[in-house]
Amino acid sequence: MEGFNSPWQLSLASLATIFVELSIIYWIVYVTYNICFHPLANIPGPFIWRATRLAYVRSFLAGTIVTDVRKLHETYGDVVRVAPDEVSFARGDVWVDAFGRNPLPRNATFFKTPPGQPDNLVMTSDISANARMRHLISPAFTERSLTRQEPTIHSYADLLIDGLSKRIRFAGPATNEAVINTVDWFNWFAFDLVGELAFGESFESLRDTRHHPWVMVIFGSIKVMAFAAMTRYYYGVESFLQCLIPPGIRRMQREHYAIAHDKITRRMAANDDKDDFVRPLLRGNPNFEKMSLPEVESTMAIMIIAGSETTATALCGITHCLVQNPDQLRRLEAEIRGHFGKEDEVTIRAVQNLPFLNAVILEGLRMCHPVAGGLLRRVPKAGATICGYYLPGHTHVLISTAAMSLSETKFHRASEFIPDRFFSDDTRPAEFDGDQRNSQKPFGVGPRSCIGKSFALAELRIALARLIWRFDISKPPGKQVNWNRLRTLVVVEKKDINITIREVRRETEK
Ligand code: HEM
Repeated sequence: MEGFNSPWQLSLASLATIFVELSIIYWIVYVTYNICFHPLANIPGPFIWRATRLAYVRSFLAGTIVTDVRKLHETYGDVVRVAPDEVSFARGDVWVDAFGRNPLPRNATFFKTPPGQPDNLVMTSDISANARMRHLISPAFTERSLTRQEPTIHSYADLLIDGLSKRIRFAGPATNEAVINTVDWFNWFAFDLVGELAFGESFESLRDTRHHPWVMVIFGSIKVMAFAAMTRYYYGVESFLQCLIPPGIRRMQREHYAIAHDKITRRMAANDDKDDFVRPLLRGNPNFEKMSLPEVESTMAIMIIAGSETTATALCGITHCLVQNPDQLRRLEAEIRGHFGKEDEVTIRAVQNLPFLNAVILEGLRMCHPVAGGLLRRVPKAGATICGYYLPGHTHVLISTAAMSLSETKFHRASEFIPDRFFSDDTRPAEFDGDQRNSQKPFGVGPRSCIGKSFALAELRIALARLIWRFDISKPPGKQVNWNRLRTLVVVEKKDINITIREVRRETEK
C-alpha cells in the first residue's frame, strides 16, 4: 500500500539514527573530557592533537611526525601534549627522569613482535627479558671483541672504497670522477658488514652493486611495524585494522623471519668460532636454555635493522652535511690526510682521537639523527614524574630528539653544520659555550641504550676517514636534498642523496 512502511524498515532507520546520535554524543563527551578533565589537560598542545589521537596517527602515517612535533615544540615549548594520552619532551632533564634510576619501559604499543613471532632483544618491553638477552649478547660488544672484529670492518671498507674507485673508472675515466648515490653505497656497506657479523654471511651487495632482495623485505617489514603500531592505538579494532594491511606486506614480514631462521641454521651448522654477534648466543647458551633458538633468530633479524640502517643513515647524513659545507670539509680533509701517510694506517685506535673527525660525527648525528622519530616509552601503572609533570600510569612518552637537536634555544645557530660546537672546553669557540650539549644522547642512555655504540662509532670513523683519504667529495650539480624535509616512517626515508667523488692524486702516484 502506498505510504506503508514495514515495522522492520522503520526500526532499521531508527537504529541507524540512534547509532549516529550516540556516536556524536560519544565524541562530544570524549573530546570534552580530553580537553577539560583529562589528567594531562594542563599540558599545552594544539586542540586538534589533544582532542583525539587522529592528528598524531595522520602525521605519523604521512611520514611528517618528526617535523610536525618539532614545530609543535617551537610553538608550545619543551613539553607538549601530542595526543590525549601522550606527551613529548624536548628537555635535557628528560634523560635523568625517564632513563635514570627508574627507567621507563619501551612503549609496548609500538614495540611488539608480530603475532606468532618470538620476542627479541630490541622489541621486548619486558625489562627482565631484555636484561636476560642483553646480558648474554653483551660479550660481542666489548672493546676486546671490537678489536677482533676490526679486520671484518676493514674488509668491507675495502670493498666500499674499491667499488667506488671502479665506479669512477667506469663512469668517468677522463674526468676521474663520478656521481654516486650515497644511500645505495652506504646501505650496501652497512648491511653487508652487519650481515656477516649477525649471520656469518654477507649480503654481497657491494660485490653485486645491488640490494639483496632480503634487504628490500626488511625495509617493507619496517613499514608493517609502523602500520601495525598505529592500529594498536585503537583497542578492539586492532585485529580488524590489521586485516587491512595488504597481504603482500604481511608476507614480507613472515619472509623476514623465515630467512633469518635459514641463515642462523647455516651459521650453526658451520660451527665456526668467529668473533661475531651470534657467538655468545651459541657458546654461552647451551641447549638454548638462557635464550631460545627462536629468540636468537629474531634478535639477529632485528639486529640487521638496528645495526645497519642506522649507520647507513648516519653516513649519508654526515657526507651530505660535508658537501653542503665545503669549508668544514676542507678542515676534515686536512686532518685526515695530514695524519695518515697511507690508507692502511687508518685503524680503530688511530681514528678515535681525531678531534675534528669526532666533532663532525657528533654534529652530523645532531643534524641527521638516524632514530629521528625519537625514543618511545610508556609510564608504568603507578605513574611517574617527568620534568616536573606528573604523568598517570600508561601515559605514552615521546623523547623528541629532533626537537632538542634542532632547537635554537638549545643550540646557537642550530640549523648550521658547525662541528666546532663539540670541541672540548679549551678549544671550543666561545659563541657555543651556551649550547646544551648534554641534551644530545645519540645512542640513548640507561639499560636500553644502544648496545652497538662502540661498534657504530668505529664503523663511522673508519668509513669516513678512508673515504676522505681516498676521494675528494663534493656537491653534484642540480637540486639538493633538504634533509629536514625527508619523510620518516620509523626510519628516515632517504631518496637519492648524491655526491660527486674524485680520486685524490698523490705525489707518489704521479
Ligand atoms: C649511528 C649508528 C647508531 C645509532 C645512532 C644508534 C642509536 C640507538 C639508540 C638511540 C638506541 C636506543 C633506543 C631506545 O632507547 O629506545 C639504540 C638501541 C639499539 N641499538 Fe643502536 N644505534 C646505532 C648503531 C647500532 C649498531 C651498529 C648496532 C649493532 C651492531 C646497534 C644495535 C642496537 C640494539 C641491539 C639496540 C637495542 C638495545 C636494547 O633494547 O637493549 N645500533 N640504538
